[in-house]
Amino acid sequence: MRRAGKVVRAVLEKVRGHVKPGATTLDLDRAAEAGLAEFGAKAAFKGYHGYPAVLCTSVNSEVVHGIPSAKRVLKEGDIVSLDFGAVVDGYFGDSAITVPVGEKIDPDTARLLRVTEASLRSGIAAVKPGATLGDIGAAVQGVVEAEGFSVVRDFVGHGIGVHMHEDPQVPNFGEAGRGMKLRVGMVIAIEPMVNAGKADVRVLGDGWTAVTGDGSMSAHFEHTVAVTATGATILTE
Ligand code: MF3
Ligand code: CO
Repeated sequence: MRRAGKVVRAVLEKVRGHVKPGATTLDLDRAAEAGLAEFGAKAAFKGYHGYPAVLCTSVNSEVVHGIPSAKRVLKEGDIVSLDFGAVVDGYFGDSAITVPVGEKIDPDTARLLRVTEASLRSGIAAVKPGATLGDIGAAVQGVVEAEGFSVVRDFVGHGIGVHMHEDPQVPNFGEAGRGMKLRVGMVIAIEPMVNAGKADVRVLGDGWTAVTGDGSMSAHFEHTVAVTATGATILTE
């Protein structure tokens, strides 16, 4: 799983380098495909319940699962979430980042990106043997709501291993002390999705793209994390 995680990180950083005004989200998918070929790894997303690409590209008010398209041209001031998974020798890695397009990013949108990434860090910091899923959710939620943003409830993180989605579900909200206890060797994907406005989302007619109900901006960061004797190891770092 460490090997899969390293491929995911390397490809995501390569794709990040292609984010600029004028690029299309299909350009980003092509860059991710080229990265997979370079490492001899398999796509985790393509074909999953019929998903048509290797990368999810979710722009501005798109929360997750945006489908790359030649018609979607990125422009200065946009933000784009890049969500990517790979399979190496049957083991999965999954990670996401949200990045600004160009230099002129609105200050509140920049804060949304910082806070969402910080909430992921806070969730990871809660991971250790004996901690609970509720500890992770509470840690993420606390960071997000202290800044006046909203945690998306309709999508959650997940166990990961020989499938992309395994038990348990890993919510980005909850109560400390509640839920399943973590044990050494468990591997989970923690992936806060945070809306600048209200938490509700809806799925567009393409059957995939989730957008904020109120049209507000949304950010998404994800790491694949293993529970170790002393805490956590981030496999996608
Ligand atoms: N990181 C996303 C997840 O954990 C990726 C799934 S996209 C899909 O659910 F297209 F593969 F479904
Ligand atoms: Co995931």
